[in-house]
Amino acid sequence: MEFMTRLGILLSGRGSNFLAIADNIASGQLADCEIAVVLSNKADAPGLDAARRRGLKAIAIEANGRKRAEHDEEIIDILRAHHVDLVILAGYMRLLSRGFIQAFPLRILNIHPSLLPAFPGLDAQQQAFNYGVHVAGCTVHFVDEQLDHGVIITQRTVPVLPTDDEPTLAHRILEQEHIAYSEAIAKVISGNYEIQGRRYIPKK
Ligand code: GRF
Repeated sequence: MEFMTRLGILLSGRGSNFLAIADNIASGQLADCEIAVVLSNKADAPGLDAARRRGLKAIAIEANGRKRAEHDEEIIDILRAHHVDLVILAGYMRLLSRGFIQAFPLRILNIHPSLLPAFPGLDAQQQAFNYGVHVAGCTVHFVDEQLDHGVIITQRTVPVLPTDDEPTLAHRILEQEHIAYSEAIAKVISGNYEIQGRRYIPKK
């Protein structure tokens, strides 16, 4: 049997990036992988319900009042129990501990709604809009120990139009996020790349 990369999805909210990935797997556009488990630090995350409706294993691990390392350990245990190969942060609004990052070296991906290194952190679309950039976009990157910082796998751009407000810009970026994440996952699954310093280099 062909090797299937097992994805562990972490989310905190609506889960539209998770759903785009799930749709692309279902349609065959994103091949050679399957979603092993969906985890959230918020029990009321709409993305968890969406996962259950699709028959996927979906688990909430509330972080309330717990130390980050202890909460992360529980998540790592669940990911390992489900034989997860690749961790996909899809709107997971919680910083990962060093132990988590070291448990999955170059095996954790994040999506950020700006063209990094511009506008890391919260409200990236609002930051870009307020700054007056003419081109915005999204970035999928490996997670390292600095926020929104690891090696860039994929970026997609969108124009900022004179008629935009922040919601219209955020919507246009989100459409590209839904394409970018599956592209990046496919690249990583292929294994057909090397990393030199900060650079992701596809192999010929
Ligand atoms: C996206 O904009 C993503 O870039 C950011 O959080 C948001 C999550 O949206 N990290 P969704 O939950 O995937 O709809």
